[in-house]
Order: sequence, then structure tokens, then C-alpha cells
Amino acid sequence: MGHKQIVVIAHAPSENTAKLRDAVLRGARDDSIQGVEARWVPPLEATPDDVFSADAVILGTTENLGYMSGALKDFFDRCYYPCLERTERLPYALYIRAGRDGTGTRRAVQSIAGGLNWRQVQEPLICQGAWRDEFEAACEELGMTVAAGLEVGIFA
Ligand SMILES: Cc1cc2nc3c(=O)[nH]c(=O)nc-3n(C[C@H](O)[C@H](O)[C@H](O)COP(=O)(O)O)c2cc1C
Repeated sequence: MGHKQIVVIAHAPSENTAKLRDAVLRGARDDSIQGVEARWVPPLEATPDDVFSADAVILGTTENLGYMSGALKDFFDRCYYPCLERTERLPYALYIRAGRDGTGTRRAVQSIAGGLNWRQVQEPLICQGAWRDEFEAACEELGMTVAAGLEVGIFA
């Protein structure tokens, strides 16, 4: 049987957000989990085919001006209709790096993912406020949780 695929569609424009993305991938690729592969696609490069190839998607974004990054918004602008009705019940998780808040971004992404009928399999993770190293551990755990869920088939 082929490996299950996690596609991490995450905007990582800074050193800190690159750390978060790497932590998510590290968790998703944890040695304790068999039969799951994870890859990163920058949202500006992500296509509907990337979504079709995914058994689960992990979305990542900064919060800018009270909303998701323009890069993640561009992904949805291009991929929403091609994905609509073809990716229903796709398991997804979300993490947000927000210097101050994060709730506007969470609401916006949940609304769009809800429109697609994607299935949120984890509470959104908001890495909020001044940078803390614990954010990396939380992102690693998020990636591991999604991968473990795929491994045991609880999202099926
Ligand atoms: C133009 C701009 C707008 C921002 N707006 C928000 C915002 O509305 N809410 C928020 O929580 N953080 C906001 N931030 C902070 C970013 O979320 C933060 O800088 C980004 O996630 C990168 O995190 P880092 O500085 O740890 O690399 C903004 C940053 C910039 C540059």
C-alpha cells in the first residue's frame, strides 16, 4: 500500500515561521509513525493537484492586518473552485503565527475550509505574542498528531 500523504501548505516568510514549518514537518515525519510522508508546498506555488494528492493538509499562515497572509489567500483564490466537491471531508489542521491576535485569521480559514467541507481534525494552533520556543514543540506535536491519525486510520 502506498504511503499516506500530508501536504503542508504554509507561508513561512520569516526565520521564526520557517522554524514552525520545519517543526510541523519534523513531527509529521516522526520515526514512530509508519507509512506517512509529509512535504511542504509554499501557498503561492500550491495547486489543486497538490490538494488532490493529499490524505491530509496542514495549513500554516501568519496573521497580517487581522487576516491570513495574502499568500494563503491566493492559494484559496486559485484552488477553491477546482477543489470544491472534489475534496470533501479532507482532514485538515491549521496553525497561525500571530504577533498579537490570530482570531480573525482562524475565523477566516475555518470559514473557507468549511465551505469546502474539509474536516478540521485538530483545534487550530495559534502561536501568539512574542516569540517563544514552545511554539516549535506545539507545531511538532500538531504534525505528529495528524500523521498518527492517518497512520491508524481514524480520519477514514
Ligand atoms: C504588516 C503587518 C501586519 C501585521 N498584522 C498583525 C495582526 O493583525 N495580528 C497579529 O496578531 N499579528 C500581526 N502582525 C505580526 C505578524 O503576525 C508576525 O510578524 C508574523 O507572524 C511573523 O512572526 P515573527 O516576527 O515571529 O517571524 C503583523 C505584521 C506585519 C508586518
